[in-house]
Amino acid sequence: MEESAQSRPEPKYYTPNPSYREKSWMGDYSWTYNEFLKDPEQFWDRIAKKLHWFSEWDKVKEWNYPHAKWFVNGKTNITYNCLDRHVLGERRNKVALIWKGESEDDERVFTYRQLYREVMRFANGLKKLGVVKGDRVCIYMPVIPEQVIAMLACARIGAVHSVVFGGYGAAALNQRIVDAGAKIVITADMAIRRGKSIPLKHTIEEAIIGAPTVEHLIILRRELRTPVEIHSEMEIDFYEVMTDVEPDCPAEVMDSEDPMFILYTSGTTGAPKGIVHTCGGYMVGVYYTTRYIFDVKESDVYWCTADPGWITGHSYVVYGPLSVGATILIGEGTPDYPDAGIWWKMVEEYGVSILYTAPTAIRMFMKMGREWPDKYNLSSLRILGSVGEPLNPEAFEWFYHVIGKAKCPIVDTWWQTETGMHMITTVLGEPMRPGFAGKSIPGVIADVVDKTGKSVPPGTSGFLVIKEPWPAMMRTVYNNEERYIKYWETIPGCYTVGDLAIKGEDGNIMVIGRSDDLIIVSGHNIGTAEVESALVSHKAVAEAAVIGKPDPLKGNTIKAFVILRNTHTPSDRLKNELFYHVRITLGPIAIPSEIEFVDSLPKTRSGKIVRRVLKAKEMGMDPGDISTLDE
Ligand code: PRX
Repeated sequence: MEESAQSRPEPKYYTPNPSYREKSWMGDYSWTYNEFLKDPEQFWDRIAKKLHWFSEWDKVKEWNYPHAKWFVNGKTNITYNCLDRHVLGERRNKVALIWKGESEDDERVFTYRQLYREVMRFANGLKKLGVVKGDRVCIYMPVIPEQVIAMLACARIGAVHSVVFGGYGAAALNQRIVDAGAKIVITADMAIRRGKSIPLKHTIEEAIIGAPTVEHLIILRRELRTPVEIHSEMEIDFYEVMTDVEPDCPAEVMDSEDPMFILYTSGTTGAPKGIVHTCGGYMVGVYYTTRYIFDVKESDVYWCTADPGWITGHSYVVYGPLSVGATILIGEGTPDYPDAGIWWKMVEEYGVSILYTAPTAIRMFMKMGREWPDKYNLSSLRILGSVGEPLNPEAFEWFYHVIGKAKCPIVDTWWQTETGMHMITTVLGEPMRPGFAGKSIPGVIADVVDKTGKSVPPGTSGFLVIKEPWPAMMRTVYNNEERYIKYWETIPGCYTVGDLAIKGEDGNIMVIGRSDDLIIVSGHNIGTAEVESALVSHKAVAEAAVIGKPDPLKGNTIKAFVILRNTHTPSDRLKNELFYHVRITLGPIAIPSEIEFVDSLPKTRSGKIVRRVLKAKEMGMDPGDISTLDE
């Protein structure tokens, strides 16, 4: 007994000032959680009623395993709740969006009314181009107000947007446009990064080759001195779309279960999965979590550093914060440009009170040293948030002490593209345990189980699962219903998340990492198969296998093992060519940090590459059972 007590230190907790709980929208966690358990449908019914519906639902939930419908037959439009509700009410002249560009004087501010008008004009422009409810529209833009306007305009008229992160390369973009059958692609001439412009138009031009559904390219021209040429009938200028249109565009009446957007996430095969979210449930889920997990108050200035091209940006830059009527800050810049003080300068200048970011950024700032944040007044901060990968205890401590000055609670939110909304965190006021995301939020039943779905005992690890449907859950994988069903069939009776986790004795959950072939690099999901197929598409490569290697800064880095065709020989030049090839096909986020040329790869007798063995070897660990490997 004594020995185990010695080897296991007492867990460490930080307890926030009780006023956080007392003044929060959520109130007491256990009490609220029990209210939810007593009557889950009533719990969600009460939340949904805080939003505007053109007509209310007949039934809160219809659960037909593994398919759920929420707020059945309810009619709404998320943009009515994000815009009209505020404009018609008290927030007409409240600042909705502040955009900060890279250079000192690059700033644009929109009140709710201004944003509303821009969205309606662009929505009417889309209609003018023939976009109707249900059409898919791809948005491939940098972080600029027009990206948000384009998303909202689609939702306004019931077009299904598919936002593709502006850093993806042509092949990745093409795959997503083709799979969604997009009718329109909205893009910009360039992104700005570290003082340089990065042209986007030629990527788009390449990406729509072999995408016959695309009828128009809408291009936002940022460079006005020498604007990119708009050729052919297919291309049209962003602001041209908005001219000669009616100023008003009433929100399309959407059924609760109509698709709202598709967002592609890396899969374990080469093809990305188009996660489909619907209008009613998603809206309720992001509204609820933004209000109750971030506890957004009228005077808050809320900054989520994610790109709207990821789910974090969809739910917690755009739809959640606007649905609660928050003032949102977005920025196009890079965290260390022009120097590592830029974020902290922005916090001071705009009086940011809620800051939601990713562990990879926190670890980068730790490395740069506390002198950068220490130069600025961060006293406006009230709540800190983290998402995307495990917030390791060292990063937690730094964030808590150096940025939060030991007064701001940290909500380490665990969730996914598929879940649409926060699922696990430490609710404001509850004791925070570094390294542990926390517990299921009220409305969610998460657990750690074994392969058969049985709960693991406290203190042990297993698979993270969700046991009951929730409103913002994905409804299907676009064009791939089979893949959707797999999420619910891997472990009987549960939604399998794909993460490994430890259940603490105190009920807190620590997420360890993926249990499948996804690698989380700087908080971004990268499929090993995606990188492998990008490598194999190069003429020199016969076969490739990719693994994730733990990295103190990025969480993981990618290492690729490559077998060359006999027409090519290993060289540094070829290695660089392969790095470049992955960059242009998939984008910079998927570039391996290392490439090793090898003569063979460990395979099963049926020819499947066993990455686990490569990884063990790389890490100097025992490869485990290798009896099924081919000679
Ligand atoms: O592995 C988990 C990790 O990110 C995965 C989901 O990735 P994605 O769909 O791209 O969404 C990221 C933003 C929500 C999860 O399966 N992950 C996300 N948040 C956390 C996390 N791992 C640990 N702690 C978190 N807070």
